[in-house]
Amino acid sequence: MSSSKPPLLSLRDLRIAFQGAGAQRVEAVRGLDLDLQQGESVAVVGESGSGKSAMALSLARLLPEPAAQIQAQRMEFEGRSIPAMNEVQLQSLRGAGIAYVFQEPTTSLNPVLRVRTQLVEALRLHRPQLADPRAEALHWLERVGITEAASRLEAYPHELSGGMQQRVMIAMALCCRPRLLIADEPTTALDVTIQRQILDLLIELRRELGMSMIFITHNLAIVREVAQRVMVMWRGEVVETGTVEQVLGQPTHPYTKALLHCVPRLDQNLDRLPVLGL
Ligand SMILES: Nc1ncnc2c1ncn2[C@@H]1O[C@H](COP(=O)(O)OP(=O)(O)O)[C@@H](O)[C@H]1O
Ligand SMILES: [Mg+2]
Repeated sequence: MSSSKPPLLSLRDLRIAFQGAGAQRVEAVRGLDLDLQQGESVAVVGESGSGKSAMALSLARLLPEPAAQIQAQRMEFEGRSIPAMNEVQLQSLRGAGIAYVFQEPTTSLNPVLRVRTQLVEALRLHRPQLADPRAEALHWLERVGITEAASRLEAYPHELSGGMQQRVMIAMALCCRPRLLIADEPTTALDVTIQRQILDLLIELRRELGMSMIFITHNLAIVREVAQRVMVMWRGEVVETGTVEQVLGQPTHPYTKALLHCVPRLDQNLDRLPVLGL
């Protein structure tokens, strides 16, 4: 066992607090443990404000430090300490190690740059050995199901529909061949019909590329499809974790039970549960 590879991601007692301008301090994540093996997926569910995005963003050190205070007994990616990484190591971690797809593609795409420019920049940075990054960019647009990819490559983000922008985001995230994809409510902002397509695309690409994934959602209906394991967060803490079967089959925390009692359809954006007043 000692020769076995370390987990892809290993977190022990991760704590994240935000210090505002005044005296108030928000403890967004309060002691989180997670081991993710290479190729494994975990779904993270929890209502708005439970610390899901803060946890996700902290992994590639994307939170605004020092306003965000991150502490952990262990915070490792492929056996290397994330807090100890220098800027060069962090740059390679972002993109080639951990890539993100967020809820709002418009906040992640640069509005003044053509799709081609953004993809090619990412490829130059993370795969400098590529002889023809433009051809690779085109390949990825086709790969994520964008029709007329050659002309879309020259488009600006606002010329694309929301669903197409999200496909571009997925292409941007995956073209650098990350070991871990973090999808933070990737379909919440999209039309119902498009949600299904984007979800299917993510599931298919993950399988094909053998990537690990952290899939953040507050929709229990899709947890089974995207992950083997699930972690339920509530007010900054992990209140329940296990295999999808365990957690969905025998939920113990009131929040999980309440979630299960009103499993939303794909098109419902369920931020807060009226039940229990949690
Ligand atoms: N940049 C930030 N500055 C201050 N507080 C923040 C910041 N980001 C998140 N928070 C706070 O941290 C808590 C967790 O937020 P978040 O991780 O975004 O929750 P979730 O993704 O589960 O909806 C919330 O109370 C939120 O207001
Ligand atoms: Mg969030």
